[in-house]
Amino acid sequence: MSKEENKKLFIETLGCQMNDTDSQHIIAELKEHKNYSTTNNMEEADLIIINTCSVREKPVQKLFSEIGQFNKKKKDTAKIGVCGCTASHLGEDIMKRAPYVDFVLGARNISKIKDIVDKKGAVEIDIDYDDSTYQFAQSGTSLYKTSVNISIGCDKECTYCIVPATRGEEISIPLEMIVQQVAKDVANGAVEVTLLGQNVNSYGRRFSDGREKTSFTKLLQEVSKIDGLERIRFSSPHPLHMDDEFIEELVKNPKISKCIHMPLQSGSTSILKDMKRGYSKEGFLKRAKKIRDLIPEVRITTDIIVAFPGETQEDFEDTIDVINQVKFDQIFNFKYSPRPNTQALELEEKEIADNIGSARLTEVIELHKLHQSEHMESNIGKTVNVLFESLKPNGEVSGFTDNYVQVFVKGSDELLGRFIDVKITGASRTSLKGEVIN
Ligand code: 5AD
Ligand code: SF4
Repeated sequence: MSKEENKKLFIETLGCQMNDTDSQHIIAELKEHKNYSTTNNMEEADLIIINTCSVREKPVQKLFSEIGQFNKKKKDTAKIGVCGCTASHLGEDIMKRAPYVDFVLGARNISKIKDIVDKKGAVEIDIDYDDSTYQFAQSGTSLYKTSVNISIGCDKECTYCIVPATRGEEISIPLEMIVQQVAKDVANGAVEVTLLGQNVNSYGRRFSDGREKTSFTKLLQEVSKIDGLERIRFSSPHPLHMDDEFIEELVKNPKISKCIHMPLQSGSTSILKDMKRGYSKEGFLKRAKKIRDLIPEVRITTDIIVAFPGETQEDFEDTIDVINQVKFDQIFNFKYSPRPNTQALELEEKEIADNIGSARLTEVIELHKLHQSEHMESNIGKTVNVLFESLKPNGEVSGFTDNYVQVFVKGSDELLGRFIDVKITGASRTSLKGEVIN
């Protein structure tokens, strides 16, 4: 294919880390095949892409007001494309509501970007499309970090969640392709990888070529054999599938980051049942305790949804109780938002009044702040090892510890890309300050 003149791409990414990676792939594919380079200025762009999220309702509403604004301010000749989960879920309705949109590309069809970018009116949202043969152009995120999708779609049926409807059934990407991709990124300077999937712990159960099953633990073992790779992160695991084999690997494999996301969603066993999460309050607490006991430095993060339909005060107090027992290091809080194509819509008559939902959300946030301060202050005086990755305009350099706390020190670009011991001298709720130990 002949290269065309250089064109500018403005891309906005909403939602989760999988969308970030998908956007990186879009950028890489359009650079390689269509000669696009990125710009941060929407008004000079030849192509505007919004990579959307449909997990909650607000971002969907925001999408339409935003593309309206883009349409007013863009160059006359510029095209607009809507990609990602809302594209999958609304399909051609997007063009009905916003006729100036040029193409719609679903979350499971990202690898087709180069084929549809010039097709006015194209809508590509097939969730059966088999893109497990992801052969993408080299993507370039941070110099030291890379992220790789290990599976697409989700086979769970959490009753509040739209993802299975937008991203389709779960298919794992072949293990050797993942290892090859990570090794390639490491050869290009990456020292850290994040393995991404909606439910990483179920990796290896279904491949598009019908090959034998494998497991996430096996994948972790293979990836960690790559020389030069120092840190492995992953997102998101599912508490139900964190089996003993996985926990053992987490404990003994020094390359695996000791920060683990355990999305609780609710602390009430009866709400967990209505959410179809597959574990009870006690089951979750047992697993979290086991991980904390085995890995003293572990940080545990979580997602919580308040005001799921039917959530009584007692149910909510169970959530508060779990928060008090686990003392999460980070909580991503959400108020339940009814989504199309989800089973929880059937519980409509049990919906919780918005003011109650807001009060519960505030309570979770305030309690969590106390735990966060406690955790962060406990680091003062300790020595931590930090991978430095960015230079700030105020002369500080920032990086992350193995258990994913952000640390700032005074320093220069000499620190970048290196693992360095730092003595912690100060703490805020979200980051630490320290001095490099020479
Ligand atoms: N309402 C509120 N929060 C939701 N999430 C997913 N679906 C919904 C919904 N309908 C949250 C869950 C999930 C995170 C990515 O988004 O907590 O773990
Ligand atoms: Fe949604 Fe549940 Fe799948 Fe996560 S595991 S993407 S919450 S259905």
